[in-house]
Amino acid sequence: MPRPLVSDPIVIDPRWAELLLAWYAEHGRDLPWRDLDDPYAVWVSEIMLQQTQVATVIPYYERFTARFPTLEALAAAEEDEVLRHWAGLGYYSRARNLQRAARQLVRGGLHETPSDLRQLRDLPGVGPYTAGAIASLAFNLPAPILDGNVTRVLCRLLALRGNPGRAPLRARLWDLAERLIPDGRARDFNSALMDLGATVCTPA
Ligand code: ADE
Repeated sequence: MPRPLVSDPIVIDPRWAELLLAWYAEHGRDLPWRDLDDPYAVWVSEIMLQQTQVATVIPYYERFTARFPTLEALAAAEEDEVLRHWAGLGYYSRARNLQRAARQLVRGGLHETPSDLRQLRDLPGVGPYTAGAIASLAFNLPAPILDGNVTRVLCRLLALRGNPGRAPLRARLWDLAERLIPDGRARDFNSALMDLGATVCTPA
């Protein structure tokens, strides 16, 4: 059961999370980085998805992870080759930061993608959303995600007023996004929020 929202006056029917999970089981998207036991691959996908649509990312993700299948392979690669595999996706600083992060971890003797939110946030190119996505999707840890889609879903669901781009509501949304996660279901719950926002609860 979701934890009670002690710090927020809003009352959320806990059945909502169960309904969302049931919806996701039937209607969730089948994406190549879903349900993988490979945090590095999840990380690559999240970096690609930062500024690029899912349909565009898929072939790049497939080629990139085939050529650089592990953190170590990426760390050891020539930067030129990494950038060649990114060519067409744009925002090349994403690729440079991803490789810098991989090299930073390997140099530090850590040959795996970290699961800790703070360690994730310390990596070049990893902001709060991407850290939450990696922790929840790759490790099933109860870390929140909040982007435009999730913001829209939560604001509509809870009829929240105000500007979600501004600090007070934003902080409240991060808090709600964390507290809504049902125990042990972070991976599916966050994926379900993403899919509902992308396919049903759309801006229009
Ligand atoms: N957008 C950001 N992360 C995503 C993911 N893991 N799946 C689908 N869309 C996303």
